[in-house]
Amino acid sequence: MENLLEPVKVGLLGLGTVGGGTVNVLQRNAEEISRRAGRGIVVSHASARDVNKPRICKTDGIQLTENPTDVVTDPDVSIVVELIGGDTLARELVLTAIANGKHIVTANKALIAKHGNEIFSAAQKQGVMVAFEAAVAGGIPIIKAIREGLAGNQIEWLAGIINGTGNFILTEMRDKQRDFDSVLAEAQRLGYAEADPTFDVEGIDAAHKLTILASIAFGIPLQFEKVYTEGISKITGEDVDYANELGFTIKHLGVSRRTESGVELRVHPTLIPKRRLIANVDGVMNAVLVKGDAVGPTLYYGAGAGAEPTASAVVGDIVDVVRVLTSDPENRVPHLAFQPESLSDLPILPIEEVETAYYLRIAASDQTGVMANITTILADNGISIDSMLQKEHKCSINPADDKATIIIVTHTTIEKNMNEALSKINALEAVSDDVVRIRLEHLDAD
Ligand code: HSE
Repeated sequence: MENLLEPVKVGLLGLGTVGGGTVNVLQRNAEEISRRAGRGIVVSHASARDVNKPRICKTDGIQLTENPTDVVTDPDVSIVVELIGGDTLARELVLTAIANGKHIVTANKALIAKHGNEIFSAAQKQGVMVAFEAAVAGGIPIIKAIREGLAGNQIEWLAGIINGTGNFILTEMRDKQRDFDSVLAEAQRLGYAEADPTFDVEGIDAAHKLTILASIAFGIPLQFEKVYTEGISKITGEDVDYANELGFTIKHLGVSRRTESGVELRVHPTLIPKRRLIANVDGVMNAVLVKGDAVGPTLYYGAGAGAEPTASAVVGDIVDVVRVLTSDPENRVPHLAFQPESLSDLPILPIEEVETAYYLRIAASDQTGVMANITTILADNGISIDSMLQKEHKCSINPADDKATIIIVTHTTIEKNMNEALSKINALEAVSDDVVRIRLEHLDAD
């Protein structure tokens, strides 16, 4: 039985950027936090790979160890906060902590996206909580907003800028013409990037987070392996400029939509209208747009990475756990928002079945009939054109070598129709390079 007069003891796994930030926030705001939680909260035990390394936080009064198993088996620790990342050692430690009756708070999106179903089921058997607000969109309380604040709604779709590093890179490249590598190096220095930064730029980190968001929005099991994932490394300045001319900005979005036939789950660069609020979310900031049938569109914005923004979410979760430590496990908020026995088996749609609009950039010879051929192929595949731009590049030596860049924005269509049309357009003799295709979402209230 918990002694309610004693402060709750927290064990930390990892004392890096987020671990250090968590200790600092807990210490600095100790009084306000205990007024909210109803009890004091202290970090009593922490593990780090090298306990002698300089830290961003004070560790006085914290028992330090290089063996994380000491923390997860410490009988005095009630809540284990997992901040080491990765999904191998972290999974083992979290499952051991659960087996030892500890509640878990984690910022680890890979762990939850890939092993959450197993972890939640182990936690349910032990009657312990697993809280993971910090796993998605850093400091934005998006899990709580969807799981609790929007519990009265049928969520129709959500779309988010959920990787700070990628957004920081796209913003700096667009506004300051900086090169990709130097911006990425800065994001790493600032502690935003993943240990393996390809997770950021290739969309894997965003796919982890989207998996979690879709589960709590639609009441489906976590299915990371079914997310369609495309990175930002192939986005060129040319496409950024053409998109801009047509009234769009390019963002790396995670999109999940419930349709009659299943759930779309996709991460890819996306053109969005510049007039949308979310189009103006720049730098390391994140934002998630959620459309509920009752509330309409709602937007959540804040810092998506960094020591204290992420610590804000971690500490919020610790407070939540402390508040309900003594409550009956059956009456707590379910891990994935829906009661575990009520999860739905809605299929995740393959990318070929997804419905979206497109931006196409076609490099062609400037000859009679080229445009007609292209538009006929699109029409034959049931694809309607929304707008078009043509840029001519005259050849000073031979007019037969004149080139044209044709930009086409289409209305919504099914991806497999677009794939068919593109294979025919790519086969046209007048079309020189493979057509560049970037998906486009209007993100309007419908
Ligand atoms: N690498 C992640 C990002 C950290 O840049 O958003 C927060 O999850």
